[in-house]
Amino acid sequence: MDRSSAPELLDIAVEVARNAADTAYRMRAEGVSVTATKSTVTDVVTAADRAVERQISDALRRLRPDDAMLGEEYGAAQPGSDAPARVRWIVDPIDGTVNYLYGLPHSAVSIAAEVDGEVVAGVVRNIHTGEEWTATLGGGAWRDGRQLRCSAETDLGQTLVITGFGYDPARRAHQARVVAELIPHVRDIRRLGAAAIDLCLVAEGRADAYYEKGLAAWDQAAGALVAAEAGLRVGGLGGRAPGPDMVIAAPPAIFAPLHDRLVDLDADGGP
Ligand code: IPD
Repeated sequence: MDRSSAPELLDIAVEVARNAADTAYRMRAEGVSVTATKSTVTDVVTAADRAVERQISDALRRLRPDDAMLGEEYGAAQPGSDAPARVRWIVDPIDGTVNYLYGLPHSAVSIAAEVDGEVVAGVVRNIHTGEEWTATLGGGAWRDGRQLRCSAETDLGQTLVITGFGYDPARRAHQARVVAELIPHVRDIRRLGAAAIDLCLVAEGRADAYYEKGLAAWDQAAGALVAAEAGLRVGGLGGRAPGPDMVIAAPPAIFAPLHDRLVDLDADGGP
């Protein structure tokens, strides 16, 4: 099991994500309400988040019993066997839960496969529209049979930037201050509400760049691979890997100016 197994892992991810998205779509049509809250009262969980993650973990356990999994709702699950797992699935059953709750058509199932700690395959599927983005490490990023290339923008002032906010009010206040200082220097800002899809839109050039502080692995694992395979530079601040402190995905010529502006604005600071 190595990088060469990425296409095989992607096929499994796609099959599982399609079934999961069908379930999420059906549950939305039947009506949805808040089941619980997590980090704050606005960080909601619906019955669908839990049911869809259960469906995904059951399917992966059946198809790949020796793999590990990390999911947003139920956390880490170890493989069925005692041997350490080389493959780990990173799953967000519904990214964009607040959009899902309100019926805004911008939420997705996101499934990534890691081999030896490196993400090698990922799929993001919009629950409402059926748009599906896939990527394998070194194999490009794709949607509907079309290979994706990111924007060729070179001027930060002409860059359409997507970002997002966490659930903690103090963190949001800091993030809002950063946006207020950034917006005069870019074309405009969008906040669409599902990081996984946001990264895929940037991969397609439907926006130029993306940044956010506070993402969990399940929010970004699949989308970041799609973005990187579409030619975006994906990283954190100060040469660090993308992670909870910061994820930036930007065309090569925009990464440094956006990065430096975010450093000046202390974008990874605050709570
Ligand atoms: C959230 C969405 C949102 C982002 C938040 C994430 P969730 O994920 O991706 O766009 O701004 O940081 O937590 O809670 O809907 O799975």
